[in-house]
Amino acid sequence: MSPSEISVADMNTWLPLDRIAEGLHERGYIVLPNVLTTTIVAALIDALDKREVEMRPAKVGRGGDQRSNAFVRRDRITWLDPQDPALAEWFDAMLTLRLALNERLFLGLFDFECQLAHYAPGGFYRRHLDAFRGRSNRRVSLVTYLNRGWLPDQGGELVMYGAEHALASQLKITPELGTMVLFLSQDIPHEVLTASRDRYSVAGWFRINDTLGNRLDPPA
Ligand code: OGA
Ligand code: MN
Repeated sequence: MSPSEISVADMNTWLPLDRIAEGLHERGYIVLPNVLTTTIVAALIDALDKREVEMRPAKVGRGGDQRSNAFVRRDRITWLDPQDPALAEWFDAMLTLRLALNERLFLGLFDFECQLAHYAPGGFYRRHLDAFRGRSNRRVSLVTYLNRGWLPDQGGELVMYGAEHALASQLKITPELGTMVLFLSQDIPHEVLTASRDRYSVAGWFRINDTLGNRLDPPA
């Protein structure tokens, strides 16, 4: 970690860093309702408006083995550019969070990547893990939602299932605007239930630096 990174970790932030680290450490996940700032919500919704046209069917698998599979997932995605000035506040917060998690949990997280996702009515993502041990560099998954006034009969919940000693039973999360969920990518199987209205989210992954997944991670 460079000296400039250390000072960033001490910045004030709207994210409850201690609570997030504690949740990941003790349970493997944390749910934070209504946590996004209004300026970040505005920037992400603006990105959605501008980039909807670029969205492509999401793929499953990894490396050269990726293909879209409408039986497994039916969302459309586009990757967000960490250099986009309009998203600086969002990516700064993710940098602060990454460094805070490294400091508290010694995870050695090396970077953060994220995508916008749109599930049209009928969209879902069957039960899966975001990372398989020894086969992926994803360590912490993050999802945050951009849907105002999501109703109980509209489906589309994120369901997290118990790992060995994590969740006792399943937990359903409504994809309401401003809610953010973090979980350990290798430990928490999860799925997105079929949504009956358009469902928008940002999904991101904090990764360690290695050469897994058929691609070389960029240097620091
Ligand atoms: C994913 C995912 C969950 C959600 O994109 O890998 O599991 O609630 N998303 O959108
Ligand atoms: Mn997932």
